Amino acid sequence: MPVTILVGTQWGDEGKGKVTDVLADEAQLIARYNGGDNAGHTLAVQEQTYKLHFIPSGILRPGVMSLMGGGMVIHPERLLNEMESLRRQGIEVTPQRLKLATNAHIITPAHQLLEQAQEKARGRAKLDTTGRGIGPAYASKIAREGIRAAAMRDPDAFGTAIYQAIAQTNRVLNLIYQDEPLDADAVARYYHNVASELAPYLVDSWALVHAMLREGGHVLAEGGQATLLDVDHGNYPYVTSSNPVAGGALVGLGFGPRVVDRVIGVAKAFCTRVGAGPFPTQVEGEMAERMRGDGSQAWDDFGTTTGRPRRMGWLDLVALRYAVAVNGLTELALTKLDVLSRFADIPVAVAYEIDGERTDAYPVDMARFARATPIYETLPGWEVDIMGVTRYADLPAAARRYVEWIEAQLEVPLTLVSVGPGREQTLLRG
Ligand code: IMP
Repeated sequence: MPVTILVGTQWGDEGKGKVTDVLADEAQLIARYNGGDNAGHTLAVQEQTYKLHFIPSGILRPGVMSLMGGGMVIHPERLLNEMESLRRQGIEVTPQRLKLATNAHIITPAHQLLEQAQEKARGRAKLDTTGRGIGPAYASKIAREGIRAAAMRDPDAFGTAIYQAIAQTNRVLNLIYQDEPLDADAVARYYHNVASELAPYLVDSWALVHAMLREGGHVLAEGGQATLLDVDHGNYPYVTSSNPVAGGALVGLGFGPRVVDRVIGVAKAFCTRVGAGPFPTQVEGEMAERMRGDGSQAWDDFGTTTGRPRRMGWLDLVALRYAVAVNGLTELALTKLDVLSRFADIPVAVAYEIDGERTDAYPVDMARFARATPIYETLPGWEVDIMGVTRYADLPAAARRYVEWIEAQLEVPLTLVSVGPGREQTLLRG
């Protein structure tokens, strides 16, 4: 069966883009199913580094079509900027290669302003979002007040809809947050002009996906963010506003479960988190700095979208077992194993202690999760550089032990190990 779903298993930034890029050879269509430009992939291909936010990484592969699915939210101006920047790097970005689902929703400048006002009002309880207007755009969608991408086919009507949306948010900004209003006229004029630029990329995503499948094609469905940031399954309210879990692919692109044959989870060999919310295995100080890197390398753990230093922690098998279950993972890819070369001992959380009791079941209740203290097992490190290793069998014995122990703990095949940002630094197993 021809659909593979690729999901993040932790709090995002697991390196899904890199795994997608490796799998892209087998796919005719790569489709993002949720989120917007809160996501960010940094991809190193030969000498070039590409930064992607809305556009699936299939765009870097000639012969592969990329789709931004109906579960996504799109900011037209920022999408056009991303398209332009790829073109400047020599990538062909045309309506033949890139598609935008008609039922994706539009992020307006008002959504972004509203989010800023909301975050300010939350004070110390702020969610620490990426500030892209993602939450308010999904709120408009669920409230049935959103604007779908299809509206761009009629620039006049689109401009009017944008004007009305801005005017409405202006009232909220003024009445509730006492904030300055946006110039609805200017925004509407700009969006009117932008509409005709994006209209040629529009497609009904269900029809594209099913046409591909009928012809025997292979579709790779790629999630933005990750399981623990899922609005239903993550650490609510410290989540994003969409469904990064595998189920989100079905809703976000428009196909049923029977066409899916592989669900690949991507996990870092440790954990990171950006933004607020509980993080049981978090480490601080020198240990965190060593794990994160100093920012001199593009793949050090600083946010691709916001540049924020990521919070760092040890691998958490309680959370990973949960990700295996809620996504129905058929396999796992482990990234950034090279980072652990910096440590003599490697603790891994195998269970939590909550209110004096040991549990290995992930608590969905955020208040309980916030009280979880990890129970660790410590594995020996290998302390040699593994970034030049090109075959799994050539890894140091302690590194292989780490991988195989995780596989045994999770009871899911661990089929890919990444030891660096390059395409060639990807070790396939079995
Ligand atoms: P939002 O998606 O901008 O609403 O942010 C909600 C939460 O999700 C914040 O904690 C963000 O830091 C986090 N988040 C959103 N997108 C990503 C991502 O691609 N990687 C990691 N964290 C993310």
